[in-house]
Amino acid sequence: MRKVNLQLSYNNQLANIQSPIFIHSTVVSMEEVVVLIVGAGPAGLATAACLSQFSIPYIIVEREDCSAPLWRKHTYDRLKLHLAKDFCKLPHMSYSVDAPTYMPKATFIKYLDDYIEYFSIQPRYLTVVESSTYDIDGKCWHIVARDMANCKIVNYMAKFLVVASGENSTGNIPILPGLENFPGVTIHSSSYKSGISYSGKNVLVVGSGNSGMEIAYDLVSHGANTSIVIRSPIHVMTKELIRLGMTLARHLPVKMIDGIVVMMANFKFGDLSRHGITRPTKGPFALKSETGRSAVIDVRTIDLIKKGNIKVHGGITKVEGKIIEFQGGNKGSFDAIVFATGYKSTTNMWLKSGEEMLDSEGLTKKEYPNHWKGGNMLYCAGFARMGLAGIAMDAKNIADDIKRNIDSMCG
Ligand SMILES: Cc1cc2nc3c(=O)[nH]c(=O)nc-3n(C[C@H](O)[C@H](O)[C@H](O)COP(=O)(O)OP(=O)(O)OC[C@H]3O[C@@H](n4cnc5c(N)ncnc54)[C@H](O)[C@@H]3O)c2cc1C
Ligand SMILES: *[C@@H]1O[C@H](CO)[C@@H](O)[C@H](O)[C@H]1NC(C)=O
Ligand SMILES: *[C@@H]1O[C@H](CO)[C@@H](O)[C@H](O)[C@H]1NC(C)=O
Repeated sequence: MRKVNLQLSYNNQLANIQSPIFIHSTVVSMEEVVVLIVGAGPAGLATAACLSQFSIPYIIVEREDCSAPLWRKHTYDRLKLHLAKDFCKLPHMSYSVDAPTYMPKATFIKYLDDYIEYFSIQPRYLTVVESSTYDIDGKCWHIVARDMANCKIVNYMAKFLVVASGENSTGNIPILPGLENFPGVTIHSSSYKSGISYSGKNVLVVGSGNSGMEIAYDLVSHGANTSIVIRSPIHVMTKELIRLGMTLARHLPVKMIDGIVVMMANFKFGDLSRHGITRPTKGPFALKSETGRSAVIDVRTIDLIKKGNIKVHGGITKVEGKIIEFQGGNKGSFDAIVFATGYKSTTNMWLKSGEEMLDSEGLTKKEYPNHWKGGNMLYCAGFARMGLAGIAMDAKNIADDIKRNIDSMCG
């Protein structure tokens, strides 16, 4: 690896950096690497492991101070993996036989720690990628990263660039009229740990995906007066039905599986329409494959809704002080709002020359199974909305492709 100090000689680049602090104290260095991986979540780690199987040198950078920060820092305490462990494996390492089928967060984090140790993965933490452009003449990627610990800019030159910065990179909060004057607490689900500080409060959860539904359950169990906004139709399922469906998907057409699981779910939950919950016309597996939207896997939230312990509201029409108004005219006074309104990819903020691979939302343009490869030796892992199983496939495909390319370059 070549290391060059280019102290303050990168005037053009420095001019692009907004924060004035760095203009004063920036040291710039340059490193060449075969593969640069952006992000040390499950997708980056899996790609690193697959590359190391081929002894292909790589550098993996991560903006936060630990690996898989989404799991270690930005998820609620009671989270368990929603999918059975056989669908949550990363390449080249299985779960121990005594790991529970639906793993608590801590068990999954332990698995990641073992994974990192086994494959000797050494992410460079606190290193934020700020831009990357393809140099057509030099046939390589030019990546500018900020090393926060040492207050310096590192320039990487890489033959291959793997984007593993996550579909769930930052929290998404909708624009609501009057929200800016809401006097209570507003947080995104990625900052929610537990309901302990909400006891006795009137809390509104916005969003009825898996996070929203489970956070509503958690709030009630900590004594909060809880309401949830369910704006559109959702498929409520059990984890066993999803597991059954995923297993059957190996042999049966999606339509048939959807028919089976919807029938069984209706039998289990009954008609929920008087509680404000209806099913989409398309089945849960068809929707997942067409739109990426996951079914809701019930964690006994539905029981609480049926008992009236969680009140269901339609979409928010306006916020006036503490009073929130819903579609249909209902109103309520709230002390806090938890936005479980999903995430956004932030990749487009730094990835230049990647238009062929990602759309304006920072998600893949190409359909599965060809989504993981862009032009100019650019790849992405973890952008097909297919969870950890999709990540494992992406990582293997990417490492295989890089290996093929290297072999053909070396004649
Ligand atoms: C609450 C929740 C529960 C989930 N449960 C399941 C489940 O049960 N089963 C399942 O299969 N999937 C589940 N998923 C979906 C998915 O598997 C996870 O989101 C998984 O962590 C995705 O891995 P990733 O590596 O693609 O992204 P991430 O884990 O988000 O990792 C991306 C990394 O890139 C870093 N990064 C981003 N931008 C930059 C930058 N510019 N420079 C440097 N680093 C950067 C981020 O800090 C992050 O660490 C869940 C997701 C969430 C949010
Ligand atoms: C609980 O919240 C609802 C708002 O949806 C409100 O109508 C009700 O009065 C609250 N109950 C108490 C005890 O504050
Ligand atoms: C983010 O994570 C959730 C799982 O909670 C997943 O269903 C979703 O597709 C992911 N991607 C986006 C863009 O929200």
